Amino acid sequence: MNVWKVPLADVTLGPEEIAAVTEVLQSGWLSMGPKTQEFEDRFAHFLGVKYTFAVANGTAALHLACEVLGMGPGDEVLCPALTFVASANAIIYNGARPVFVDVTGPQDLNLSVADAASKVSGRTRAIMVVHYGGYPCDMEAIAALAGRHGLKIIEDCAHAPGAVYHSSQGPRLLGTLGDIGCFSFFANKNLTTGEGGMVVTNDDELAGKIKTARSHGMTTLTWDRHRGHSFSYDVVARGYNYRLDEMRSALGLVQLNRLEPGNARRQELTYAYRAQLKDLDHLEVPFRDFPGGSAHHLFPILLRDCGGRTDFMAALAQQSIQTSIHYPPVHLFSYYRSLWEAGHDHRLPLTEEISARLVTLPLFPAMTMAQLDTVVAAIRGYFR
Ligand SMILES: Cc1ncc(COP(=O)(O)O)c(C=O)c1O
Repeated sequence: MNVWKVPLADVTLGPEEIAAVTEVLQSGWLSMGPKTQEFEDRFAHFLGVKYTFAVANGTAALHLACEVLGMGPGDEVLCPALTFVASANAIIYNGARPVFVDVTGPQDLNLSVADAASKVSGRTRAIMVVHYGGYPCDMEAIAALAGRHGLKIIEDCAHAPGAVYHSSQGPRLLGTLGDIGCFSFFANKNLTTGEGGMVVTNDDELAGKIKTARSHGMTTLTWDRHRGHSFSYDVVARGYNYRLDEMRSALGLVQLNRLEPGNARRQELTYAYRAQLKDLDHLEVPFRDFPGGSAHHLFPILLRDCGGRTDFMAALAQQSIQTSIHYPPVHLFSYYRSLWEAGHDHRLPLTEEISARLVTLPLFPAMTMAQLDTVVAAIRGYFR
């Protein structure tokens, strides 16, 4: 399906995925049931977390997090602007307002805890952290900030399945450090089910609410009724249809086996890029000296000169190398600008300056060293 010699991302799918989905189709049970339960159990074991709920996509996971934490009109949620728009969208679905936080700097594209602290108001209820590119945010500083102000912590782990945060109490997998962790299994992610996601928590009360809100606020599932465990149901809360189906859960189970070797390969490629780009003065590599533990979802670079970005990306495209921008900052999109009342200062100087120079290079587990060499040669050729 690739039109590029070196695509930005690519899925690794084998006969195991085809067999797993075929088995579900042959079973005749397609909507959420035993495969989803197995996927949730395996993901819980992998993360070392008490509760996992498979959902339709990562955006649904984030929305459920905001829903069960009780976000509503008048509430503010701190979140980065250098993220996919889904992070902020999930906040506004419930009428709460995202308060955008600047990045830390060119070497750390995660949100600045100091800027977050300066934006806490009497209305702030939560902080949504996004582990950009799979690189962990400073979770100890974030926990301290949240503790001081009584804020809930939502982790957007769309880029970070399998990434580790090295805290003073030892290593912890991302998604287990806040109140609720949210994962995306979209097609370009480290673990994919095409569309899909997971909400995880260690909190008994939140878990009960997530389970109910995922399926219309109902007290029983179709699968329970099919097995004769129940004949009726009540609706006890506002709910949604955010369930995952059995085909995707079967895919997820196989993909979970591929996650750790896939992340290891991403790391190998990241280190190779860093070594080969080290002497180039025309660009900077964010997270270059970041201590281990990333899921290496993205390989971003920062051009020294923002004016040349379109030319740079076009020159690589000419050689059939796909690049992208992660991300155009959310606070500058027309819709988000329109949400702000006149005169409200929502400038994010570092995010704006850095995002104008960002380019994402190809990175995926099946990428060969020859493909990486092709990308590096094209970059060197451009700057010669
Ligand atoms: C940082 C981030 N948050 C949230 C999402 C939303 O996930 P999904 O596309 O599965 O809804 C994505 C992925 O696209 C993402 O990259």
